[in-house]
Amino acid sequence: MRTKVAIIGAGPGGLLLGQLLHSYGIDNVILERQTPEYVLGRIRAGLLEEGTVALLDQVGVGARAHREGLVHHGVELAFGGARHRIDLHAATGKTVMIYGQTEVTLDLMNARKAAGLTTVYEAAGVKPLDFDTDHPRVSYAKDSVTQEIACDFIAGCDGFHGVSRASVKPSAIKTFERIYPFGWLGILSETPPVSHELIYSNHARGFALCTMRSPTRSRYYVQCSLDDHIDQWPDERFWDELKRRLDQKAVDELVTGPSIEKSIAPLGSFVAEPMRFGRMFLAGDASHRVPPTGAKGLNLAASDVHYLSQALREYYDEKSAAGIDGYSARALTRVWKAVRFSWWMTSMLHKFPDQGEFDARIQVAELDYLVSSKAASTSLSENYVGLPF
Ligand code: APR
Ligand code: PHB
Repeated sequence: MRTKVAIIGAGPGGLLLGQLLHSYGIDNVILERQTPEYVLGRIRAGLLEEGTVALLDQVGVGARAHREGLVHHGVELAFGGARHRIDLHAATGKTVMIYGQTEVTLDLMNARKAAGLTTVYEAAGVKPLDFDTDHPRVSYAKDSVTQEIACDFIAGCDGFHGVSRASVKPSAIKTFERIYPFGWLGILSETPPVSHELIYSNHARGFALCTMRSPTRSRYYVQCSLDDHIDQWPDERFWDELKRRLDQKAVDELVTGPSIEKSIAPLGSFVAEPMRFGRMFLAGDASHRVPPTGAKGLNLAASDVHYLSQALREYYDEKSAAGIDGYSARALTRVWKAVRFSWWMTSMLHKFPDQGEFDARIQVAELDYLVSSKAASTSLSENYVGLPF
């Protein structure tokens, strides 16, 4: 098989890249190691920046998001027993949309199928090869038969644990990492959200977040120990702990119910530099990872593939390598700003095991400054809604 761009990974990054390239008339094939059902079964964050929604619109995939997504003009910070609203729209003129990553992935999958584009699911042993030459290729096995794709370029959209970054020789890559000493215990329930906007809570017992998927489906998180196991958190214990970390109004209005999904996720910040290795590019979680506190993961994958698809269009249409030569620096500039913001939100809102009284006071002072200063809340707002692409 031959294609112009071989994409590894059919998560939101790979699928969106595939649709963008298709819209530019650039042939591409996606190799995904899991089944479509497995990919859709992953529960992930669900907050889209306007730029991400615009990309979905650009490839004709935004209709359901506009129908079913919840547009938010503000967000609330809770600390010291009170809630404080940050008016994102007043500060930036922008909004954010709550629309599950699973739904984004499904919409992109359906669009790819409708366009008759090739996605090889259950592709085993995918390997990017010869990407430091002008003749890169990707090998894999399908139904135990070894296959190979000859291509012009490889796009590693295979996530944090993928094969693309792992295929780069160590001397050619530099990584930066911060592991957080806690995790997020998340629950999904068929209950109405406690508030029509998100609530991020800083509490002496630990962080909590109230979010949602729809007017009837809620998503809640509480910070937990990395030593915790899901079996130690029956629903009743989760709801009790969540209530202890929320303000009284939220406690009074919280509707609890049985969990339909419950999981613990570790938190980490990670960046690999550069994002290009000869004729292989990394995009999305294959290159970087952020704690979900700032809801930047999916949105960074979107800006990466926006830059990459533009660069490849320039290569094929204008016969210019300027875009592909500049891709890594351009993408990393936005990546690092989002990594900083996600680290800052995480540092401000969570209880760190070694945290003393002074640190706790500094967190509250930072939150108090945020909700009482137009400059400070504008800074938070422009990062939260998404810095320009
Ligand atoms: N071969 C083929 N496919 C692979 C391989 C491999 N060796 N390794 C991983 N994959 C697939 C995974 O099964 C997954 O479907 O690559 C895809 C990567 O998708 P994501 O991990 O979702 O990464 P990305 O598309 O960059 O999206 C980033 O997703 O994980 C969240 O929090 C993250 O919101 C962020 C967003
Ligand atoms: C979610 O809806 O799952 C979500 C929203 C915002 C975040 C993290 C997760 O910062």
